[in-house]
Amino acid sequence: MNEKMAGPVIRVKDLYKIYRIGENRVRALNGVDFTIEKGEFCCIVGTSGSGKSTLLNMLAGLEKPTKGEIVIAGEHIEKKSESQLVVFRQAHVGFIFQSYNLLPNMTALENVALPLTFQGVDKKTRQLRAAAMLKLVGLAKYLKHKPGQMSGGQQQRVGIARALVVEPEIIFADEPTGNLDSNTSLEVMQLIQKIVRKKNQTLVMVTHDNYLAGFGDRVIHIRDGKIIQIEDNRERNRETQEAEQSETMMPETGVPETEVPGMEVPGMEVSETEVPETEVPENETWKNEISGN
Ligand SMILES: Nc1ncnc2c1ncn2[C@@H]1O[C@H](COP(=O)(O)OP(=O)(O)OP(=O)(O)O)[C@@H](O)[C@H]1O
Ligand SMILES: [Mg+2]
Repeated sequence: MNEKMAGPVIRVKDLYKIYRIGENRVRALNGVDFTIEKGEFCCIVGTSGSGKSTLLNMLAGLEKPTKGEIVIAGEHIEKKSESQLVVFRQAHVGFIFQSYNLLPNMTALENVALPLTFQGVDKKTRQLRAAAMLKLVGLAKYLKHKPGQMSGGQQQRVGIARALVVEPEIIFADEPTGNLDSNTSLEVMQLIQKIVRKKNQTLVMVTHDNYLAGFGDRVIHIRDGKIIQIEDNRERNRETQEAEQSETMMPETGVPETEVPGMEVPGMEVSETEVPETEVPENETWKNEISGN
């Protein structure tokens, strides 16, 4: 158990989602109960159509449950209106999508800086924070690149930087590595995990890849809208972490070398000449795209 964890940040109780199409009813979620601890990395796995995305969308308040309770950061999501949900998401939640969802005409820097505009952060600070975040995901040289000028893995790193730049309490990721090859998938997933752990953020990741799911503290297996198993890897992961830490101990001093090079967010200097002006459209649909509506 991670000592930083402190009580559940997500509580789901007796959750149902039933879709009606004509005469047919699909029980996409058929009575689901679980809790997720603060700082936990929780994976949701299951075959196609098992209800993974439905569950994640419901946790994020993107869809209303048919029945049941969802309490996140102490607030009942299922009771909130659309406008309350927009405010809630901006305050607590970040999203990473399978299809990146970057804005094609904006540079990497502009894409990552965008969510900060909705928090009223001034332009200079937005650019500094976006640049630092892009550096953290290994894209310091790609600030001015547009999505079409980057590989899938690089675009997904931009997507990660955009989700994390606002430092949300909870990150929801739906198949974030679904469009990547297996090596890049592992790298991208470990990158997300590393950043999230460092800040003690909670990560809920949907995947159909059992290998990637094995990196999670816990793995919720779902089938036909029901939880069939919850796998707990926390003890095993803690032992692995401890073994890794003792390997990096300096033998003479016993001082752990926990800092990973390039993982720090320094007050990175970005001069006005280096960085293009960040034009932010006032259009509401841009805002909705980012907040996940
Ligand atoms: N808007 C909708 N209207 C009707 N049925 C839906 C809707 N969304 C999902 N479903 C149904 O609910 C079930 C669960 O779908 P969901 O998208 O949650 O699956 P999933 O586990 O995410 O699958 P995948 O791995 O393919 O993304 C499926 O049977 C699907 O057809
Ligand atoms: Mg899905």
